[in-house]
Amino acid sequence: MNSKDNDILIHAESGVMTITFNRVEKKNSISSAMYATMADALVEAEKSSVVRVVVFQGHEAVFSAGNDIGDFLNGPPATEESPVYRFLHAISTFPKPVLASVCGPAVGIGTTMLFHCDLVYAGDNAAFSMPFVNLGLCPEAASSLLVPQMMGYHRAAEALLLGEPFMAEAALEVGLVNRVLPPLEANNYAQAIAKKLAAKPLSSLVETKRLMKKGLATTVRAQMSEEGTSFGRMLREPAAKEAFGAFLEKRKPDFTQM
Ligand code: COA
Repeated sequence: MNSKDNDILIHAESGVMTITFNRVEKKNSISSAMYATMADALVEAEKSSVVRVVVFQGHEAVFSAGNDIGDFLNGPPATEESPVYRFLHAISTFPKPVLASVCGPAVGIGTTMLFHCDLVYAGDNAAFSMPFVNLGLCPEAASSLLVPQMMGYHRAAEALLLGEPFMAEAALEVGLVNRVLPPLEANNYAQAIAKKLAAKPLSSLVETKRLMKKGLATTVRAQMSEEGTSFGRMLREPAAKEAFGAFLEKRKPDFTQM
């Protein structure tokens, strides 16, 4: 496994659990061990009588480059029990408030996980991208449902078919982020909001979140499952093999024959 024990840092204080991507040298790309750690942390946080709010954060220069490509190729997610799917299930059904502070690149799941957060703060250097098509894949994390819903179809098509990055101001405009800040302030700002939430009655927070989300909960789950089936199949097909091979060999992919 391409992962050290401290690639994900977990810290709980004053009712706030902070989950930090701490693998900057690999652009905070996420291995299956890291997904497992985050999934377990969310399960614990849900049960905990102490944790009231969860915050995801990265480094001021990078949030996450998404799936660790080498790790993904070595151990593609095979079942719903795979760490990545356990993580997606945990974050998408998490009953308490979830915040994210995003600076620098947020690629693939680095962006799609944000659709399952309640409040998102971004550094003005944040660059969001969902390059699934460029990798010979299809969207995950119910992003094929939630992106068009949030951004409107045509902007979603730009983000998901072209897969090009969009910056913090554009993300603010479409409602993906709540506020844009200088990168060095984003994590502190998210912590301040988390503390504010942690001081509110948890039962009201949980019930309000449940009521806001319940209309889509079943559809989100079904979409995620259908995406997972397609994603798993496409991962074994020539386009993804070419895209991932090209990334590892540091060359441009050639899709002209597929
Ligand atoms: N998986 C595995 N390793 C990754 C990675 C990923 N998703 N993203 C970056 N890395 C590694 C690079 O291989 C490189 O490792 P090396 O120093 O051993 O060569 C290191 O992180 C630095 O990456 P680099 O590409 O040089 O940084 P950059 O600042 O030029 O670009 C990104 C940053 C995030 C834009 C770029 O790394 C990128 O596009 N990564 C791939 C994103 C992606 O396709 N994710 C998969 C989504 S399913």
